[in-house]
Amino acid sequence: MNDALFLKQALELADTRKGFCAPNPAVGAVVVQDGKIVSQGVHQKAGSPHAEVEALNGLQDAENTTVYVTLEPCCHWGKTPPCTDLLIQKKVSRVVYGLMDPNPLVRGRGQASLEQAGISCQWFQLPEIEKFYRGYSHWVTHEKTPYVTAKLAVTLDGKIAGAQGERKQITGPELEKFTHEHRRRSDALLTTVETILCDDPRLDVRIDSEVLQKPLYVLDTFMRLPEKARVFDTAQSITLFHGADVPQTRLHLLEDKGVRLVPVQKEELGLNLLDVVKEIGQAGCHELWVECGGTCIWALVRKKLLGRVFIYVAPKWMGKDGKAAFGEDAWDLANGSKSVQWSSRGKDALCEIEW
Ligand SMILES: NC(=O)c1ccc[n+]([C@@H]2O[C@H](COP(=O)([O-])OP(=O)(O)OC[C@H]3O[C@@H](n4cnc5c(N)ncnc54)[C@H](OP(=O)(O)O)[C@@H]3O)[C@@H](O)[C@H]2O)c1
Repeated sequence: MNDALFLKQALELADTRKGFCAPNPAVGAVVVQDGKIVSQGVHQKAGSPHAEVEALNGLQDAENTTVYVTLEPCCHWGKTPPCTDLLIQKKVSRVVYGLMDPNPLVRGRGQASLEQAGISCQWFQLPEIEKFYRGYSHWVTHEKTPYVTAKLAVTLDGKIAGAQGERKQITGPELEKFTHEHRRRSDALLTTVETILCDDPRLDVRIDSEVLQKPLYVLDTFMRLPEKARVFDTAQSITLFHGADVPQTRLHLLEDKGVRLVPVQKEELGLNLLDVVKEIGQAGCHELWVECGGTCIWALVRKKLLGRVFIYVAPKWMGKDGKAAFGEDAWDLANGSKSVQWSSRGKDALCEIEW
């Protein structure tokens, strides 16, 4: 029996939909008979059938099969019926799953109901699957707040843009691709109005010839977001976090452009970032990807809201022509972190700090 191999195939399927199933996790399933995959399924998006259902519905006869599924089968009614009912009805012989559902209301119950029906059911732990569901696990165990990852590209002398804030291509194609893959697998993206004013970024996902759009959140205390910003054409939706005293004309104009406006309390460093992160989590986002300058990233570090930061370091020197990543108050970025890992990507280095 090659449980690990088949679970990894189910994981590959799940990965094709990671970042597109919120508020549900992405799940993949394969059905195996006599050592061969006879059917497979993936949860496409919230509200559509679960992966087990997709996989089993394509099969005439599921007796004497093993179903490999990345997440413990559900045993409760949500938008769709419990998957355990279908597995029992189809008389599968065995179920192997990659992660026990971290939700305390569900945890272990899917396994128990299958076992009660006489189906052998096993949790087969794989580190890749645990990592795959890090965002989902964080969300269910941290009061529905997302796992937050930020990225920042710097030169050897710690510069992130031109001296006036103008955009510079700092790192090479390997890290560019890395960014787009992370955007794809995240449920939503967060940036700041400052970064939009300087860079006018697209903040969509471009991998090979495919272009995908993501929900975008913007920190914009005074509603400075320009009407002609490219994100209006490239984001799936825009939610703007703003302060209390904003001109009504701007408010109506942005509303007319379809922007969702969320007022947030102001505090010393700007908008209350904990409220921002909570609001994004309430919308069902498990994994949030942040792209902005050092001011916002340092504020997130200080507030202990980052799960992880990727610092991309290019072998370039900008000197006085560059804008420093952080101000005078920044020092030990990795303070309190549980791991710091360095690796190389093309000509650049990648530093991953995890808290
Ligand atoms: N190298 C890279 O990877 C990279 C990536 C993105 C951007 N950039 C560059 O970064 C530069 C901008 O960086 P930056 O450090 O000046 O700005 P930033 O970090 O992108 O944005 C800071 C702004 O966010 C808003 N904000 C609201 N609440 C906040 C809070 N609690 N904490 C922090 N910020 C809050 C504030 O603007 P309001 O008061 O108006 O709300 C604040 O001025 C640009 O030049 C851009 O080119 C580089």
